[in-house]
Amino acid sequence: MTVDVVCVASWNVDLIAHISSPLLRGQTQMAHGFERLPGGKGSNAAIAAARQGAQVGLIARIGGDDFGQMGLDLWALEGIDTQHVVRGEGEINGTALILVYPDGDNSIAVHPGAGAGLTTAHVQSADHMLAQARVLMASCEVPITATQTAFEIARAHGVLTLLNPAPAMPIPHALWPLIDVLTPNEGELRMLAQAPDVETAARKLLAQGVGAVVVTLGAQGCALFQPHMPTLYVPGHAITVVDTIGAGDTFTGTLAAALARKAAWPEALQWANAAAALSTTARGAVTAMPTRAQVQTWLAPEQAPSR
Ligand code: RIB
Repeated sequence: MTVDVVCVASWNVDLIAHISSPLLRGQTQMAHGFERLPGGKGSNAAIAAARQGAQVGLIARIGGDDFGQMGLDLWALEGIDTQHVVRGEGEINGTALILVYPDGDNSIAVHPGAGAGLTTAHVQSADHMLAQARVLMASCEVPITATQTAFEIARAHGVLTLLNPAPAMPIPHALWPLIDVLTPNEGELRMLAQAPDVETAARKLLAQGVGAVVVTLGAQGCALFQPHMPTLYVPGHAITVVDTIGAGDTFTGTLAAALARKAAWPEALQWANAAAALSTTARGAVTAMPTRAQVQTWLAPEQAPSR
């Protein structure tokens, strides 16, 4: 099977507690809600892309436990290619402990489990799938050496590369020029660029060799920065937020799918903005992640010609 979008992916099971205020050090609070749901920034983005109609393939290492099996069952349902997913027998899967606050915002602690063992050799074994794809995406939840190898293979074959730098961490010097599209939120951008404002920070990363920086701005939408081009701002959507888990992953996966089908920047960003907004309307990362038809319906009034 050929794929449009390849994801070097993390897969976590999210253990989510809803609490009334951020925890203080040493404090115990009674949660008023709890869920165990699919997560992992890579898997979330892959599912977002698949729901937008892209054929998606994963490169991933998951646990040999029940949580690992949950991933395989989920990806089968979503029609995602798992021929390059390997299980670490006897190893635990990645887990995310998530606290959600009343305004829908959250705090997350991730233990990668078997995902920490994803190697460059594993990525190299998927070079055929990588070489024929249109877009490669990754987050910083997988070993950065594996991402670097995947991006080198992609670049050699003219495959568009997209990095969601989450969680924010130092990016190796040699990786910067291999990134065609970077999708940080404001906090990640600040950490990566150490600059006083969004524009200066984004242009600083472009100077490192990144092809385009798309900064997600929450309810304000997003902004596209490209070398020698004016900034393109795409407004956000007024929506009642239930839970923001996975909104950034939905944005990245939807953008990857749109770029894979060769949508122009304004359309791709409008689509990613809408999908990310819709993903915040229910609890969990993949629960409210929309299909392409749902995004189309949501956007339709805005796309209707004005009189
Ligand atoms: O971006 C949200 C995701 O971050 C969660 O699903 C959690 O698993 C962590 O990876």
